[in-house]
Amino acid sequence: MRLERVAAHVPAGARLADIGSDHGYLPVALMRRGAIVAAVAGEVALTPFRAAERTVRENELEQQVTVRLASGLAAIEPADGITAISLCGMGGETIRDIFDSGKARLNGQERLILQPNGGEQPLRQWLMDNDYRILVEELLREKRFDYEIIVAERAGSVEYTAEELYFGPLQMQARSPEFLAKWQRILREKQKTLSSFAHAREAVPEEKLQEIAQQARWITALLA
Ligand SMILES: C[S@@+](CC[C@H](N)C(=O)[O-])C[C@H]1O[C@@H](n2cnc3c(N)ncnc32)[C@H](O)[C@@H]1O
Repeated sequence: MRLERVAAHVPAGARLADIGSDHGYLPVALMRRGAIVAAVAGEVALTPFRAAERTVRENELEQQVTVRLASGLAAIEPADGITAISLCGMGGETIRDIFDSGKARLNGQERLILQPNGGEQPLRQWLMDNDYRILVEELLREKRFDYEIIVAERAGSVEYTAEELYFGPLQMQARSPEFLAKWQRILREKQKTLSSFAHAREAVPEEKLQEIAQQARWITALLA
């Protein structure tokens, strides 16, 4: 379901780079459906790299899907003519670091389809700092985990407030029932954390305490 939702945001006819592809299911499924014209599956680790190679081979897609053993955007070559990049199932900080260290490989025209596992705030911060506008945000819950999908394109200078970076600018506007339920759960966790800090034997760093208290205030205001 998670990758199916990601797949829905890949533009028809794209040349896709799926970084951290693992088994290669996303590019192979899209290619089999004729939804994209070519793909690169990048993997940094040998076992998933071999798994992706096998998936491509078993589907006889060696001509259309290139599997490369490489870290991050090093899997992309200019001749690939990539128009969309997906990075899914990794922490938001990891996705941010992959983009930051691979900036030189971006031509600025690619659509980014991102599915971070946590760390959405630092990822959105990187997008804003690098002139990417968030076009779509989707929230889904699968097996008791909340997943976010963030679709972005470079579109010139863009400004998000601290709260928008924390909650997601479009989700904040839409206020879907899933979004509100997610933040109700998180607020309960924050309140538990703050109460455990109050009873902690050892002093909790003031900065940490203030950060969580600030987040709890933001969430309370959001839900009000
Ligand atoms: C949890 S899997 C997610 C696989 C798939 N994208 C998905 O969403 O189902 C994360 C994959 O990212 C790969 N990975 C982690 N850091 C990477 C990097 N810097 N470059 C390429 N692949 C990376 C890991 O080896 C692993 O196979």
